[in-house]
Amino acid sequence: MTNPAAAALIARSNRLGADPKNTNYAGGNTSAKGTETDPVTGEPVELVWVKGSGGDLGTLTESGLAVLRLDRMRSLVDVYPGIEREDEMVAAFDYCLHGKGGAAPSIDTAMHGLVDAAHVDHLHPDSGIAIATAADGEALTKEIYGDKVVWVPWRRPGFQLGLDIAEIKAQNPQSIGCILGGHGITAWGDTSEEAEANSLWIIDTAAAYIAEHSKAEPFGPPLDGYDALPDTERRARAAALAPTIRGIASADRPMVGHFTDSDVVLDFLASSEHPRLAALGTSCPDHFLRTKVKPLVLDLPPTASVEDSIARLHELAGAYREDYQGYYDRNAVADSPAIRGKDPLIVLVPGVGMFSFGKDKQTARVAGEFYVNAINVMRGAEGLSTYAPIDEAEKFRIEYWALEEAKLQRMPKPKPLATRVALVTGAASGIGKATAAKLAAEGACVVIADLSLEKAQEAAAELGGSDVAVGVQVDVSDEAAVQAAVDAAVLAFGGVDLVVNNAGLSLSRSLLETTEKDWDLQHDVMAKGSFLVAKATAKVMIEQQLGGDIVYISSKNSIFAGPNNVAYGAAKADQAHQVRLLAAELGEHGIKVNGVNPDGVVAGSGIFASGWGANRAAVYGVEEKDLGKFYAQRTILKREVLPENIANAVFVLCGPELTHTTGLHIPVDAGVAAAFLR
Ligand SMILES: NC(=O)c1ccc[n+]([C@@H]2O[C@H](COP(=O)([O-])OP(=O)(O)OC[C@H]3O[C@@H](n4cnc5c(N)ncnc54)[C@H](O)[C@@H]3O)[C@@H](O)[C@H]2O)c1
Ligand SMILES: [Zn+2]
Repeated sequence: MTNPAAAALIARSNRLGADPKNTNYAGGNTSAKGTETDPVTGEPVELVWVKGSGGDLGTLTESGLAVLRLDRMRSLVDVYPGIEREDEMVAAFDYCLHGKGGAAPSIDTAMHGLVDAAHVDHLHPDSGIAIATAADGEALTKEIYGDKVVWVPWRRPGFQLGLDIAEIKAQNPQSIGCILGGHGITAWGDTSEEAEANSLWIIDTAAAYIAEHSKAEPFGPPLDGYDALPDTERRARAAALAPTIRGIASADRPMVGHFTDSDVVLDFLASSEHPRLAALGTSCPDHFLRTKVKPLVLDLPPTASVEDSIARLHELAGAYREDYQGYYDRNAVADSPAIRGKDPLIVLVPGVGMFSFGKDKQTARVAGEFYVNAINVMRGAEGLSTYAPIDEAEKFRIEYWALEEAKLQRMPKPKPLATRVALVTGAASGIGKATAAKLAAEGACVVIADLSLEKAQEAAAELGGSDVAVGVQVDVSDEAAVQAAVDAAVLAFGGVDLVVNNAGLSLSRSLLETTEKDWDLQHDVMAKGSFLVAKATAKVMIEQQLGGDIVYISSKNSIFAGPNNVAYGAAKADQAHQVRLLAAELGEHGIKVNGVNPDGVVAGSGIFASGWGANRAAVYGVEEKDLGKFYAQRTILKREVLPENIANAVFVLCGPELTHTTGLHIPVDAGVAAAFLR
């Protein structure tokens, strides 16, 4: 049964974490102390429950708590070897765990265990960090809070900071918390309610003080010509720049992107002080681990042409990498971890918005959220004083902290398609849907494009939230619609690397019954549609300079000739030759182009369900439900071909094993000798 102290802690944490004004995503930690009966001795034992490493307060559950014995935690003070070796204390926490100990204790555990209060909250509120990063933060803390809240000069999180705060609480019995310079806030209380009220009071009092005392234009007067572009133009501009920007962010390792054009971002970029402030970088330790020390800022107004903007972005990227190398070289010591990549994680484009990057969509999205936090912090600090983040050497010590490095090393190996953005046409049904599911399961971000927006979004929802898949509307035979779908994909995930030309339909009529309209429809959707999708997406891939894959779901019928198939079969043969033509043309950009030739996929197929299956069943004299089995008997392997079999072939063509193959078609038909490739 959950201890009442832990239960109160979880409820409080969820309430605090639910409101972004209180702390950034996964930022901060909370604790409660209480008593339980030690199952070994039958005696009461004092425990502290504290949010473990990682995890978010808003969704904290009991499994996210570390549980430590207070007597043993307090004993650590006697063996603490001093600040130079404070990192060793993290390993010592493992010897304080109660029972199995729950979640891994975080670096902030010392603060929670050592501060003499039953409930402690450590939070990263924008308003509190604004005070914490103001040049005269100490004086402001006195002015705003009197002696109720105490200033603690910047110190890297760890055992010493815990000791410092414990000492402050002991020396200032009237205090309810403190402002941690350059970092955030800590508050305490005898009860959970009191701690929560104290946290909220510190946060809200800072916000109210900023609102009342801030100068009118904290980011300086508006910059001429830097106004945000109107909505449609802005999104189009963002989509036009995104592939270049993703390529820049991915020079050392491929990244997924996220785009934000909220008013907070656009207002910041339209103000005269944004270049100076952006260069100062972020401050809260949580922030720059996710955003890097500083962003790359395009120094051209939105009135500049796309071409000029792209050229300038490339220049700035080179400078950014040199600058980052310089930062590493200035600060690295003998046992620092190796440099982790020199590319920006945040790219700011005035008038357009912010592109943020990460190893997956969630990480990219949160990096963007953190930079919005940083903008709020800078606005507050500049409104009252001057924004003064912690200095470069301290930022480096956090970014390349051995404990952080160890965390990174413990991360599970990424899935084979991690960081890759896939666009699958006709993915609301049948083979396309199974392919989208397979690519997502292997780690790709997936864009499901189909005629019906509703069905595309339904299929995307089945794969998880918008961090995994999004649905977009497209008629692949319409060039403008294809461009709009590709733009939507690029804005959803930063770019495109893996395209599956799957949309299709089958009319199956004899030559004399095939109308001109039938012929055009088959060719418009499959031959022209694949061409349009390949063209729009290859442009993105070429700009990204990250290579890519295009896979055509062609057909056995691109090889095999039978009656009643002239329009469909000819369109499939057209697609099959596009594979070879584009493989030959796009190879110099690292783009592989391959095809899959399915046959007889009845299960899940809309083509079969919409009358064609009934027609075939009647022709062969079998029941429609047995058609799949009937087709199986005609194959060499006597196996029914399922949508998943096609999806697996697509994965193999794009996955890590088949890196040196282009211009190939893989038959997935359970063996049809008449369609053997030769
Ligand atoms: N099912 C088979 O046995 C088989 C065999 C060989 C090849 N194929 C090919 O596999 C692909 C998928 O077939 P399926 O069996 O999964 O069919 P399906 O009908 O289940 O799925 C096709 C999807 O494409 C979409 N689509 C149709 N026209 C479109 C357009 N203009 N723009 C965007 N989307 C459009 C449809 O809405 C549908 O969701 C097709 O190209 C088909 O020719 C299927
Ligand atoms: Zn913190």
